[in-house]
Amino acid sequence: MARRRIIAGNWKMNKTPSEAVALCAELKDLVKNDAVDVVYCVPAIDIVPVVEAVKGTNVLVGAENFYIEDKGAFTGEISAPMLKDAGVTYIIIGHSERRDIFGENDILINAKVKKAFAAGLKPILCCGESLALRKAGTYAEWIRRQITWDLDGVSADQVKDLVIAYEPIWAIGTGETATADQAQEVCKMIRDLIAELYDQTTAEAVRIQYGGSMNAGNAAELLAKPDIDGGLIGGASLKADFGQIVNA
Ligand code: PGA
Repeated sequence: MARRRIIAGNWKMNKTPSEAVALCAELKDLVKNDAVDVVYCVPAIDIVPVVEAVKGTNVLVGAENFYIEDKGAFTGEISAPMLKDAGVTYIIIGHSERRDIFGENDILINAKVKKAFAAGLKPILCCGESLALRKAGTYAEWIRRQITWDLDGVSADQVKDLVIAYEPIWAIGTGETATADQAQEVCKMIRDLIAELYDQTTAEAVRIQYGGSMNAGNAAELLAKPDIDGGLIGGASLKADFGQIVNA
């Protein structure tokens, strides 16, 4: 089954609202491609202006974080229904920066995946190993454990709508990309795990991205691999290069 490619920018904590609108204008003609899902995952405060700025284009808007309750006394937090109402389609969950800097564990990440689906958002679920685990050779086990936990209680139909991003931590923001073969090995392993946890149809439907220093120069080789259905792009999503990745 042919899976539709999905190229998502993860803007992280970059771009003020006015800078965000300017970036949308800069990228507008560069990211035109009806054969690809193009997503800008942006800081919460940029969501409303970015939704407005991409109206009438093929670009979908994603968020980078939310809290698992729908509403109430959670000062400073934003809920999934709020994101949905603002025009958000995708939501990044389980990014290594949230796991490592903000202490999010797989129990919370699993709750977020379920809440996102309940609110009508599509999760981009991130997984990936540290350099130590890569060197120790235990990365496959680690990623299996992450995904098995994170998808506990998630249905096959939901997984068909899920995006999984394999992001080796040693490749994020470092300029060191996994080789296309290293990325393909893990993306295939993830697809095989989905077949094991669910079934073959679900495994063939789930979209798996690679993330970690993907750029205009290496995107085509990575995206040519059979189990890599797209990319989650940090640094290179903030400049014109993003258009080259969309069209790689
Ligand atoms: P990078 O970030 O492309 O800057 O390595 C990717 C990510 O963290 O999603």
